[in-house]
Formats: sequence, C-alpha cells, structure tokens
Amino acid sequence: MNVNLGIDVGTTGIKALAVDASGNVVGSFSHPLSLLTPHPAWAEQDPESWWEGVLSLLRAVPKNMTVERIGLSGQMHTLVPLDKDGNVLRNAILWCDQRTASECEAATQALGGEERVIELTGNPIYPGFTLPKILWLRNREPEVYKKIAMCLIAKDYIAYRLTGVLGCDPSDASGSAMYDVVRRRWSAPLLEALRIDKNLLPRIQGSFEARGRLRKDLAQKLSWDEIEVVAGGADNAVSALGVGICEEGDCMVSIGTSGTVVGATRQTASDKTGKLHFFNHVLPDLSYYMGVMLSAASSLNWFKEKMGANFTWDEIEKGVERTPIGSDGLLWLPYLQGERTPHRNPNARGVLFGLSTMSDETRIFRAVMEGITYGLRDSFELLRERMPIKRVLLVGGGAKNKVWRKMLANNMKVPVTTPAVDEGGAYGAAMLAALGGGMDLATVKGWVKEAAVTEPDEADYARYDAVYGQFKALYADLERRFDAVADISRAGEFSA
Ligand code: XUL
Repeated sequence: MNVNLGIDVGTTGIKALAVDASGNVVGSFSHPLSLLTPHPAWAEQDPESWWEGVLSLLRAVPKNMTVERIGLSGQMHTLVPLDKDGNVLRNAILWCDQRTASECEAATQALGGEERVIELTGNPIYPGFTLPKILWLRNREPEVYKKIAMCLIAKDYIAYRLTGVLGCDPSDASGSAMYDVVRRRWSAPLLEALRIDKNLLPRIQGSFEARGRLRKDLAQKLSWDEIEVVAGGADNAVSALGVGICEEGDCMVSIGTSGTVVGATRQTASDKTGKLHFFNHVLPDLSYYMGVMLSAASSLNWFKEKMGANFTWDEIEKGVERTPIGSDGLLWLPYLQGERTPHRNPNARGVLFGLSTMSDETRIFRAVMEGITYGLRDSFELLRERMPIKRVLLVGGGAKNKVWRKMLANNMKVPVTTPAVDEGGAYGAAMLAALGGGMDLATVKGWVKEAAVTEPDEADYARYDAVYGQFKALYADLERRFDAVADISRAGEFSA
C-alpha cells in the first residue's frame, strides 16, 4: 500500500501518521518526549531525543506500506543551534521558554521601538520567539554562540537529519522574529541592525516544496527508496491545514499543550497592537492571526499529576459537569509558563484564587478547565475584532471532552465543530506530502470530514460572562505583583 507519512515533532511527543491516497489514516505511531526545566519557566529538549523518536517511528512503519513522501510539522520558534559540521551545540530552547525578556527589550530598543519592529517583521519580539534566544546565547553563552554556523527550528532539524539539506519555510520563519511576514523573506535590515550574520539562517522555500531526498545511508538502513521529504511547516499552520483551515474567516481553536486560536486571512496587515501574532500559512498567499496560551491542556495535566492523580479523566469530566459555572468562587489563572496572548507577560504565573473549606479536587478541576477556556476566549475576542469569523473548528486533546466543547461554545457564543480526524500536525504534514507529490488542494481538502457540531446555550452566557469578568479583573489586580515576585526568583537564577 502506498502512503504519505506525516511527522509532527511536538513537545510531549513525536507522532507519525501513514495516510493513503484517499486521506485515510492507515497507520499511527507515536513516541513520548520529556521536557527539561532547569529554572522556572525555562524549557529545553535534546534534539537527539527527537531524532531517536523519529527513527523509531520510521522503523515502526510496517513492511506492507510503501512510503512515497514524508511531510513535516513541528513545534514553532524552538531554536536548534548547529556548528559548522552540523552538530547540535546545546539543548534546543523551546517555544514556551521565557528566559529572554531582557533580550526582547534590548533588541526592540536597538531597532527603534516596537512600531518599527512590527513594520520589519509583522510582529513584536516575544520571549518564546527564535531571535531573542540567539541573542541570549550571545550574551550568556558566548562560547556556544561563537561556534554557531546555522540556526534551525525544530522540524527543520529533523528535515536536516533525514536529508542532509538545510532550510526553513515561511510558516516557521514567521515565528522567528527575523522574517518579514509581508515581504516573505528574512529581514535584512533587522539582521544588520542586530549584527546577526544572515548566513546563520537557511534558505526559505514553500512548505510543500521538496527539501531533499532521504539520505542514502538512512534509506538503506530502512530498506526504503531515497524518497522525497517536503519542507513542512509550523505545527499550528500545519494542524490548521489538517482540519481544512484554508479560507479567509476559517478559525481553529486548539487545546493542546499550548492553546491557540488561529484565524486564516488573505489580509497582509499585521496586528499593530502586537497582541495577535500574524504569520504566513503553509499555503501560498494565505496568512493567519493567532492568539497563543502557553499552558492550556498542560495546565490541566499539571494539576492532575500534582494533586489529582487518583482521578480518571472520565471521573474528572463527570465531576466538572456536576459542578456549577464558577466553581463556587474558584478562579484559575492558567499562566504556569508566563503568557503570550493577551498579556505578553513572561512573569505571569498560575494562580488558584478563592479557596475555601468547600473547595475540593473536582471544583478545582472545573476552575482549571474554565481558566483555560477564559484564556482562549481572550484570544478569540481579539480575533473577532480583527476579522469576521465564518466557522470554528475545535481540535486537540481538550476537544475530545464534551463538557469542555460546550464550555467553549458557550464562552465564544458560536457553534464549534470537531473534525473526524484530529491528529494535530501529523495529518496536515501528510497533506503537505500529498501536495508535494502533485495532488491538488481541492482533493486534499476533500479528505477533511466534520464529526460533530456543539451548539452554544444562551442560558449560560450571563453566568460565564460574569465569571470571565472576574477572571480578567484578577489578572489586572495581580499584574504588578507578578513582576515583583519574578525579580526575586530571577535573583536566584544564576547563583543556583
Ligand atoms: C505558537 C506556539 C506553540 C507551539 C507548540 O506560537 O508557540 O503553539 O507551536 O508546539
């Protein structure tokens, strides 16, 4: 059987899907990954662990399948620095890492202020983006910085290991803070002003163009042909393609490790407030606005792991359904890892507010789920101000939970649809592989089927609006306190 193989390099795991020419998933393989957190709100991974994961998945493809082409998707912004021989110089610094606040500030000033930065790249410089991590290495690890010959983003490192060819695509370049999203090229004036050698960045090519062919030795080891690997794209963009987000006004809300709200657009104007990201999609001439929560499902997983380990997911869902909106006065600010949208605050942290003797795990679970929902609602409201939204697709682990689907529909006040295949970036990556093989977009889009629509209940709007108002007010009340506490914790960072 001939298949396209889509591979997603995620944060909690690598996933590969074998997809036949009609879009059916005929094989699904996954490999878990762990996260290194050397300091609060830092996040690193060893790229070798990604590669070991990818290799194990390639080996898992059954012999009766012939892989025609590989497509890639991966965690965005994550920096992999390579030396001149292509060796990884240090652990990758991840999208959710918040160590670079002072580099962001200094670079913004050096470039002439935020308005100018948005003019150059389409976005402000966020701590999780790739550029400030390079600057952080220049400041804090000059021995590493001196040896850097190439900076790659996660899936491009895997493409390099598969093919030996260096490259990037517009969707991942968009999140680097070094790429001009409107002109669709690396920003030469930015690189020059910050004294970053443009040769440290690879060539950019379309997301379904061929990056190269499988390295001979690897093909031999697998007993495969030297098949093509297409460039691939940023996980949010590739996941969006995977559920058919291909037209102006299509919106995807994703509850994964991070939470994202993506709105596809043909507009070429970025969000001048800098609150929503403005990135190129994996399809030509299409871009998207995106709001990003750094801890979405990960915040619920964190709570379950630390304090609710005795509960099954089924018990949690039933408990949350039984508990009233607002959890009897409990609020959760889901900022375990700082927050991007709408606060742009690397110092924000998780807050469980309103505990009383009545509080129990079930109420806390509900408060955590609501807190994540209000965070997504923040992004959705910003998106709705920017563009008319025609339909909303809900994806990610959270979308499998019917109580959560209802909570989201009631907060966004629109019907939310779940797709029949919800496999994150891996399915979209298989689509990119098919497009790379010459299949037309209409056929590939035709693979996507809708599973269920959840209608909102007007009766719940007022109650949710009231709690959402308190959620927003609580953050506003605590904003300055987060900075003060961060100053204390930063003082210990380099003495440990
Ligand atoms: C988006 C972002 C995350 C990662 C997750 O800007 O940082 O959604 O892409 O892998």
